Amino acid sequence: MLYTIDHVTSQQLTNPLAAAGPGPSAAGGIRVAGLVKTYERTTGREIVRTHALEQVDLHVAPNEFVSLVGPSGCGKTTVLKVIAGLLDPTSGTVTIDGARVTGPGTDRGVVFQQPALMPWLSVIDNVTLALRFAKVPKRERVPRAERYLALVGLADFHDHFPGELSGGMQQRVGIARALALEPRVLLMDEPFGALDAITRQHMQTELVRIWEDERRSVLFVTHSLDEALLLSDRIVVMERGRVAASVDVPIDRPRTRLGLLEDPAARRLRASLEEML
Ligand SMILES: Nc1ncnc2c1ncn2[C@@H]1O[C@H](COP(=O)(O)OP(=O)(O)OP(=O)(O)O)[C@@H](O)[C@H]1O
Ligand SMILES: [Mg+2]
Repeated sequence: MLYTIDHVTSQQLTNPLAAAGPGPSAAGGIRVAGLVKTYERTTGREIVRTHALEQVDLHVAPNEFVSLVGPSGCGKTTVLKVIAGLLDPTSGTVTIDGARVTGPGTDRGVVFQQPALMPWLSVIDNVTLALRFAKVPKRERVPRAERYLALVGLADFHDHFPGELSGGMQQRVGIARALALEPRVLLMDEPFGALDAITRQHMQTELVRIWEDERRSVLFVTHSLDEALLLSDRIVVMERGRVAASVDVPIDRPRTRLGLLEDPAARRLRASLEEML
């Protein structure tokens, strides 16, 4: 089912691929076309199939910040995993700046709901290892890792091991690792979900600052509409394995939490989105 609200153009609703419009951006960024994913699981003699993605078409233009929202189980993580190259689609294609995704790559910085850190490596080594994979010159790895660890508030924890950190701190190491790659594409799956309110606000501010400094395409999954409104150029709503709507966020930047609360347009947009979810 497709929703209609005043911020959504009919073109965006009927054809999410057209949402970015024509022009050079059409070839670049993240493009997901006709994505279908059926998980199969064998229990005894039976094959159990879960149709996680029915048909997903999605385009994140170069330098665009798009949030993906939708109820639990609608397929957000599955979309991200396929774009990350960690999961093969049943059918459909993903391209990054025109190049077909066939597996993981350091052109994409990925942060998942749970940080996948190497428990036997220190915090700094977790970050520098990723930089080694990305073929960052050796002399640049430690300073760059230190810079991003400082940015997520972990300057004093370089020598700690993941098991010695809280869940939120581990998540921040994962965020630092993804940002340190300075990738063209950032894929973030509820990256701030495990953080306390103050740290979350700090991380939101830093993410926007980084994105504004070194523009890149961001696909950001969140359950928080306030977070989506604060961060995004556009919000894509998923429902049962499909894109249900694509909604522009026509609110000037810099945005503040208070400003969004006071802005009637932002409040209307929030209410419309809330109705969909
Ligand atoms: N490895 C898997 N094997 C089988 N089914 C899976 C697997 N991973 C996800 N699913 C199913 O696919 C569907 C979509 O899951 P997904 O994790 O993409 O949802 P989500 O939108 O990210 O949810 P949430 O908001 O709770 O994180 C769900 O029905 C889920 O049960
Ligand atoms: Mg998920």
